[in-house]
Amino acid sequence: MKVGVLTGGGDCPGLNAVIRSVVRKGVQEYAFDFVGLRDGWRGALGGSVVPLDISSVRGILPRGGTILGSSRTNPFKHDDGPRRVRDTLAAHGVDALVVIGGEDTLGVAAELSRQGVDLVGVPKTIDNDVYGTDYTFGFDTAVGIATEAIDRLHTTAESHMRTLVVEVMGRHSGWIALQAGVAGGANAILIPERPFDVDQVCAWVQSRFKINYAPIVVVAEGAVPKNGQMVLRDQTVDEFGHVRLSGVGEWLAREISRRTGTDARTTVLGHVQRGGTPSAFDRWLATRFGLHAIDAVRDGDFGKMVALTGTRVVRVPLTDVTGRTKKVDLPLYDEFEVFFG
Ligand code: F6P
Repeated sequence: MKVGVLTGGGDCPGLNAVIRSVVRKGVQEYAFDFVGLRDGWRGALGGSVVPLDISSVRGILPRGGTILGSSRTNPFKHDDGPRRVRDTLAAHGVDALVVIGGEDTLGVAAELSRQGVDLVGVPKTIDNDVYGTDYTFGFDTAVGIATEAIDRLHTTAESHMRTLVVEVMGRHSGWIALQAGVAGGANAILIPERPFDVDQVCAWVQSRFKINYAPIVVVAEGAVPKNGQMVLRDQTVDEFGHVRLSGVGEWLAREISRRTGTDARTTVLGHVQRGGTPSAFDRWLATRFGLHAIDAVRDGDFGKMVALTGTRVVRVPLTDVTGRTKKVDLPLYDEFEVFFG
């Protein structure tokens, strides 16, 4: 059997660990052959296919990014896209695909699977918002990076007695903001799931100053003020219809300064959260996902996504998990309100 592997959407630490474990087990245990499709669905559309064997995956476990490249290409937005994908697979003798991606890439996989393409999905994203899995790999690394940044910002904020707003990624869900904010001892955590009240944030900031501490406000890029709108970087949308976010941190720092008469600055962590070496947990999870994905291919159990449930890796139908987002439960968020202000 020949298996194609692709990585799509925003990259995240741990992608290479999946590729490595898929190829290692597939070659060593099942004598499969492999190819890589370059840059996600773009390679599948355009016929950009590269050899993939044990030697190509040697040494990549701790490397961030993806040796196969990635893109936000949506074959369903291109003329004859699904047929061109099938032609590429046929031209290279690919029998099945392992598709490593987030909600968009896996959404395409679900539809292609429905149309008869044999594939298995592996969930990834730093945002941890793929439905149907307790965790995605990449998230733990991003939370670690954001927590370290918050730790560092505490000391400089206190030296100058100013508010520091930290903007983290999280388009639809506030998992990174919540976990890093709690781990880093933030004084306010603002997530997309709960529109925030700027006056309330200012009150928290002022109560912090009163006891001679400098406030740290963690805000997810997709957080929205009550009665306000999402702050966009620009109006351009990708092939999945997503706008570019970022800017809520700057906006909020300006509002805090204006309303409280105190100094407030912003740090936008941006792609730093997605770069570099994966944490040990992400290497572990990505490796397990890869092993289970290639087992699903061997079993001919297509149209499934591997997922973490508790400590077990299970297979769930792609159609059950795509088109949905795993959001932060508000009761969970409310557990931490005692630390605000
Ligand atoms: O992949 C998810 C994500 O990290 C989001 O949190 C963020 O909005 C987006 O990617 C940024 O994507 P890009 O790299 O295309 O700017």
